Amino acid sequence: MMRSFFAIPTVLALCFLGYVDAFWRMNCAVIQTGRVDPLVNYGAVAAHAHTIVGGSNIGVNSTFRTLINSECSSCEIAADKSAYWTPLLYYSYPNGSFLEVPHGGSVIYYLARGPNANQTIPYPKDFRILTGDKSLRSYDSVTMTWGNAAYPGRPVADRISFVCLPDGPPLPEYPYMFNTTCANGMRAQIAFQSCWNGKELYKQDNSHVAYLSGIDNGICPPTHPIQLPTLFMETLYAVSQVPDQTPEGRFVFSQGDPTGYGFHADFQNGWETNVLADATKNCLVPDNFGQISYCPSLYASQNNGYSVNCPERPAQIGEPVHGLLDHLPGCIRITDGPESAPASSMNCPPSIPPPRIFATKDSVPRPTASPVPGALFGVAQNKYLGCYNDSAASSYRTLNAISTTNYQAMTVEWCQNWCMQKGYRLSGVEYAQECHCDNEINPTSVSGQRECTWNCGGTMTSGTGKQQICGGLGHINVYNNTDSNFDAFGDMTDTAGNAQPYSPPAGVGPNYLGCYSDGSSSGRALTGAVTADRYMTIEKCAEYCTAGIGYQYYGLEFASQCYCGNTFQNSGRLLTRDSTPNNNTCQMRCGGSQPQICGGPNVLSVYKNANYRPPMMKTPIGKYKAQACLTDPGTNGRSLQGASTTNPKMTEDMCVKFCLGKQMRYAGIEYGVECYCGNSIVESSGAKQVSCDNLNQMTCPGDKYQWCGGAGFMSLYYSSSI
Ligand SMILES: *[C@@H]1O[C@H](CO)[C@@H](O)[C@H](O)[C@H]1NC(C)=O
Ligand SMILES: *[C@@H]1O[C@H](CO)[C@@H](O)[C@H](O)[C@H]1NC(C)=O
Ligand SMILES: *[C@@H]1O[C@H](CO)[C@@H](O)[C@H](O)[C@H]1NC(C)=O
Ligand SMILES: *[C@@H]1O[C@H](CO)[C@@H](O)[C@H](O)[C@H]1NC(C)=O
Ligand SMILES: *[C@@H]1O[C@H](CO)[C@@H](O)[C@H](O)[C@H]1NC(C)=O
Ligand SMILES: *[C@@H]1O[C@H](CO)[C@@H](O)[C@H](O)[C@H]1NC(C)=O
Ligand SMILES: *[C@@H]1O[C@H](CO)[C@@H](O)[C@H](O)[C@H]1NC(C)=O
Repeated sequence: MMRSFFAIPTVLALCFLGYVDAFWRMNCAVIQTGRVDPLVNYGAVAAHAHTIVGGSNIGVNSTFRTLINSECSSCEIAADKSAYWTPLLYYSYPNGSFLEVPHGGSVIYYLARGPNANQTIPYPKDFRILTGDKSLRSYDSVTMTWGNAAYPGRPVADRISFVCLPDGPPLPEYPYMFNTTCANGMRAQIAFQSCWNGKELYKQDNSHVAYLSGIDNGICPPTHPIQLPTLFMETLYAVSQVPDQTPEGRFVFSQGDPTGYGFHADFQNGWETNVLADATKNCLVPDNFGQISYCPSLYASQNNGYSVNCPERPAQIGEPVHGLLDHLPGCIRITDGPESAPASSMNCPPSIPPPRIFATKDSVPRPTASPVPGALFGVAQNKYLGCYNDSAASSYRTLNAISTTNYQAMTVEWCQNWCMQKGYRLSGVEYAQECHCDNEINPTSVSGQRECTWNCGGTMTSGTGKQQICGGLGHINVYNNTDSNFDAFGDMTDTAGNAQPYSPPAGVGPNYLGCYSDGSSSGRALTGAVTADRYMTIEKCAEYCTAGIGYQYYGLEFASQCYCGNTFQNSGRLLTRDSTPNNNTCQMRCGGSQPQICGGPNVLSVYKNANYRPPMMKTPIGKYKAQACLTDPGTNGRSLQGASTTNPKMTEDMCVKFCLGKQMRYAGIEYGVECYCGNSIVESSGAKQVSCDNLNQMTCPGDKYQWCGGAGFMSLYYSSSI
């Protein structure tokens, strides 16, 4: 199954809290999928498959030390390289196939609740917790949290809740998968234990931790008196994206659980110690409304590019888990309950050997090259101007002239060079993969944004050297080539060198035909006449191409060039009639008028000459009527031999009149100025009558709207009586 690289988990605005309280929350995307569980099966293949979010070094051998060294985190707070995992959800078809349900992202809450919330301490290094019980298949109303008269206990089973998000009003929550017809997804939620015995950092039976009396509120039991942040994790499953659902099919978690009672989650601490310590002390108890931006230590490492900068890593376990499968990973059998599932419900036949574990390849963070505004960065004299907002929906982009997309290649330097080659000073990188150019910044754009956090595609894929930033979603890093020797077309100066005020591209004028391809090597599209002017405008080109007899079409290219012609030749081909400058390959501002568009590199903005009138043979002239052209090879005498004359102001009328005076039935005009008459066509000269259409006809020097033959052929008239 194709997984979209730029899929961003939905930000789940719905908060499970019914009352004002203190917490922070962050969004996370998937970092690894498969039978990986270093808490339960350290160094080995886990019993069932998980979806893991968080530190990129997560693997079967992960420890605090390896996680903290992760190259990146797929969670919104880069300083949190912890790993969090939950089971995969599949759809079980009646025919025995299983389809992975797309993971819609996770949201992780850090809460401090209860009367002792002020005494919450951060997780110790190497701290790990597992919450939930994979073997449960029914509601356990017996096992209670510890409590007292003031803070009564509660069924431990209430740590789990499921939310069905239909199109309409939300349904009440239940601790099992009560409804899977949820147009906007099904959310599995689980609270972690937040009371610690102060001794072990992890125990297989999780007896080192206990729940708060009210699970997400209350007090800690005397056996586990130390209060830690309460983790609450939401995992969104895109259940409505599963096709061909039938009453006989059903959703089943990877531990073979079709009920949801066996939902569980694991946490392995990988926080940068000082960031978690500061946030626990300063950001858990005051009312933050969950906002990272209210907490300076978290805000400093917030990164909205988490899913792009830290995409899912290759699976460590060599076993298919994505897409359509013919058995659950690990050949887990579905166990309906209500009794608990047996400890091992794994039974792969010999034909399915245990999967391979690929060796752990731990990475280390790569330094990021982060220029400060005003500093030189990249090629030539490029100066970093800042991070600007840039909405693709706004009518004019921050940099408006031309743009291109190239994820594999995109770096700051690549974009700077591309814009320079196209004649632009300003370059801007955006969305990890886009490059935009112009010579002035849209004045509505505001710099100083902090959302330029996405790694450049080119520095992500090359994997060597420093990581660079290429803007973000709706945000662009802008550079200015300040080299004074650089001659930028369409610079905002007039011919006198005075700065012109910024104006957005106004696009095209009347009689616009569209943007056409053109090529210098394959021959020009418009071959009639050509001129170039550093300060080209649409009007200048129109004047040039329509002067005199004029051409039918004129086209502007590369800010400065003007081509004329009557037909489209060679590579000339309509690309688009769309005249929106920011949506068009013809996007270059004209050198002499920056609101105007003058094509682009190898593309022409083409206009029609509305006043163009093609020359035509006048017919009849008296009794003489126009005929097909007559060839005049001239090697064996002329094709008409009765009389002849020449005149530098020759017209069709002039020649016909001359031949009438000579009492000749045929009149032929050749090479613009020559006139021949005869009473018959001299066959022995090799003369033939041919269509004039394919001949390179010349206009008459005495009337530019008439034809006067050409080289080796005549425009011919004939009259049957004289
Ligand atoms: C089972 O049904 C699903 C849904 O129609 C289909 O996608 C899948 O290919 C089927 N599996 C087999 C083995 O035919
Ligand atoms: C926690 O401490 C803050 C500031 O020190 C105080 O305003 C607040 O009342 C305390 N909350 C509790 C529940 O003790
Ligand atoms: C599940 O919820 C949807 C949306 O509210 C509802 O239309 C549907 O009837 C429910 N299904 C079941 C089995 O309760
Ligand atoms: C996990 O660590 C052990 C002990 O260092 C090592 O032998 C094993 O190869 C590691 N496993 C993987 C998959 O790297
Ligand atoms: C930038 O943000 C400002 C203020 O919100 C807005 O007016 C402007 O249109 C935005 N500019 C672009 C290019 O998105
Ligand atoms: C870019 O640099 C040129 C040359 O130094 C300068 O004239 C121009 O004003 C600069 N543009 C911006 C937007 O800073
Ligand atoms: C850009 O072009 C596409 C397809 O030609 C069109 O759907 C879209 O509306 C255009 N956008 C703008 C801003 O004109």
